[in-house]
Amino acid sequence: MLRRLSRANTDVDLTEVLLSRDSDNRTQVLSPRIAKSSRFSYLLPLCIAVCTLGLVGVFVSLFLNRKLIWFRKEANDTFLQTSLILGPRNDSSSSIYADVESRLLPQFRFITISSDDWGRFSDAIPLFPNNEWKEKNSDISIASGTPWENGTVETKEDLQRLVQLMESLNRGVPAHEKIVLTPFFIVSGPDISEMKRRGCPGSNCSYVDAPIYSGRGGFSKYPFNRDGLEAQYKELFARGFWHPEYHGRAHFNVLEWFREIQSKDSIAYKCFDLGLVCGNSYSSLRSEHSMFSSNDKDPDIEVIEYMQWISVGLHAFTEFWGYKPVVVSSPHNTWSSSLLQSIFQLGFIGAELGDNQTDLLETYNTYNHLSLMNRFRYDAFYPEFRLDSRLEQLISHINKTRFTSLLWHAQNVLSSCFDTSHLNYLSNCFVETVKKLRQLDDCHVVFLTSSELHQIRRQGWSREVWNDCLVYRNFLKKPVATNVDDLSLLLRTNETWSNRVLSVHFYSYLNDSSSFLLAHPNIISHRKGRGLLFISVQDTLILPPGSYVQVKATSE
Ligand SMILES: *[C@@H]1O[C@H](CO)[C@@H](O)[C@H](O)[C@H]1NC(C)=O
Ligand SMILES: *[C@@H]1O[C@H](CO)[C@@H](O)[C@H](O)[C@H]1NC(C)=O
Ligand SMILES: *[C@@H]1O[C@H](CO)[C@@H](O)[C@H](O)[C@H]1NC(C)=O
Ligand SMILES: *[C@@H]1O[C@H](CO)[C@@H](O)[C@H](O)[C@H]1NC(C)=O
Ligand SMILES: *[C@@H]1O[C@H](CO)[C@@H](O)[C@H](O)[C@H]1NC(C)=O
Ligand SMILES: *[C@@H]1O[C@H](CO)[C@@H](O)[C@H](O)[C@H]1NC(C)=O
Ligand SMILES: *[C@@H]1O[C@H](CO)[C@@H](O)[C@H](O)[C@H]1NC(C)=O
Ligand SMILES: *[C@@H]1O[C@H](CO)[C@@H](O)[C@H](O)[C@H]1NC(C)=O
Repeated sequence: MLRRLSRANTDVDLTEVLLSRDSDNRTQVLSPRIAKSSRFSYLLPLCIAVCTLGLVGVFVSLFLNRKLIWFRKEANDTFLQTSLILGPRNDSSSSIYADVESRLLPQFRFITISSDDWGRFSDAIPLFPNNEWKEKNSDISIASGTPWENGTVETKEDLQRLVQLMESLNRGVPAHEKIVLTPFFIVSGPDISEMKRRGCPGSNCSYVDAPIYSGRGGFSKYPFNRDGLEAQYKELFARGFWHPEYHGRAHFNVLEWFREIQSKDSIAYKCFDLGLVCGNSYSSLRSEHSMFSSNDKDPDIEVIEYMQWISVGLHAFTEFWGYKPVVVSSPHNTWSSSLLQSIFQLGFIGAELGDNQTDLLETYNTYNHLSLMNRFRYDAFYPEFRLDSRLEQLISHINKTRFTSLLWHAQNVLSSCFDTSHLNYLSNCFVETVKKLRQLDDCHVVFLTSSELHQIRRQGWSREVWNDCLVYRNFLKKPVATNVDDLSLLLRTNETWSNRVLSVHFYSYLNDSSSFLLAHPNIISHRKGRGLLFISVQDTLILPPGSYVQVKATSE
């Protein structure tokens, strides 16, 4: 278990404070430590209020195919009118973002590469292990004629190629300009062979989970037999190539699936019989995060059911990755007001949506606490994708908005059902795009993890947790003060920083200069000694405007 999942930090601009080695400002750096303010101090009363009152009664489900389904329940929007915490509610978060934007350094544009479906081995449509399977089983190919007809599961070779791709894009590139992916992980799925052994789909049938942390995640079982992916997933994280966030537990509507497999002449049953998941039609099992919603249900009950379901997924995620995810993308981009409430109460800070969902969902983003972002679809495997025109649209989008989330599914690098030349084309589209974005004249594009993007959008600066370091970035026009946390409070590791020598690497985007500080804890802090400024765990770290700051334990 994680020792403590603290998200405490300070959110204070110390306008006067400059971190400087030899100026009189040093006395200001020595100003009293800023008290930590725990997020939970305001979360708790809010949770109680939310659970008790039940805020929203509308369910919205938006599907990828742009079909829009909207059920209106007994809408009682009394609590939409007034916020218990922040005063009168504004219908969108735009005023918050506008305020932060006005305080950001103007020349930067922020991009995250939001990549859904990693770890996924079940879906509403069949994921075939390879082309042979696909050709042999055309009777269950319910996704034929759609961009998803060649949907499959990653292999070791796919992950190796991804490592090479990231290596080549980041070779010789300094840390603050490296490109990073945010893979949204499916952390589990059904163990179909075990379910069959226990009598499924008969009357005794029950759901058996095959979580990723168990050492034998579902992708390692028949018919996928992808053994040993776990080590490669972790290598990509350890090398800073990706920073996973939460997608789901199954990627399909498990309750509806149970109904569909009961009938032996259904397509769902045929898939089940083969060891795959699929629905009777393209969209009948869409999707995981709408399965507890229904027209006549108490929204409070829905919220509780989603929270219970997602909690198990969060457990699997933290067991495997060692940290708590803070951003969600929902399978098939299915969203509802009760899902928003649930993820907020579970401590998420943001959500990445489909192409055009924020307008509707902001209406239910009570208290404006979640950062909601539409994603800019950039899936080269969609037949209508044309690199030149899409890249032009992307650049003009970046010209207009500070924050961009590119929707770039795992499918863009999955080889099992694509031939090599198509795969090369897909990866080339990605490489060309990154190159182009790095060369833009009008603005400076910074690649961020999804968590960093949402933090900067909400407050102008960020702290990201990595395997062996913390990375802070500040894009406000003013310095920010924050306390350096012990990594072991944020990540499952047996190595506390409390008695280690820390090194702090500062980089300034504004004047392209770097500096290093060595910090020894509990001896001297924030003082000059032998020409070095010391900073230790729990001390206040000053993030200058336009800075990238990496804090790490040294091997001493
Ligand atoms: C909606 O709120 C009003 C009070 O503003 C209340 O009288 C009414 O019963 C509520 N309706 C439902 C369905 O909860
Ligand atoms: C809501 O936001 C708009 C746009 O930023 C602003 O003009 C308006 O005054 C805000 N309303 C309230 C009640 O804060
Ligand atoms: C799926 O693969 C087949 C060849 O195996 C190809 O003809 C087809 O275009 C592919 N579909 C998509 C959407 O890429
Ligand atoms: C269900 O389980 C019970 C007890 O575990 C067993 O007696 C019964 O035969 C099972 N039914 C089926 C259809 O497998
Ligand atoms: C986005 O959705 C809204 C309705 O929710 C619609 O009015 C608007 O035209 C859509 N925009 C685009 C670009 O599709
Ligand atoms: C981006 O904006 C700059 C000026 O702000 C303009 O010169 C340039 O043509 C724009 N590029 C695109 C692709 O819209
Ligand atoms: C942490 O655990 C690993 C293996 O469990 C061990 O090799 C290492 O020495 C431990 N480190 C510390 C500081 O206890
Ligand atoms: C660059 O900027 C940083 C932070 O604002 C400052 O500490 C540093 O002295 C500057 N370096 C140079 C060479 O101007």
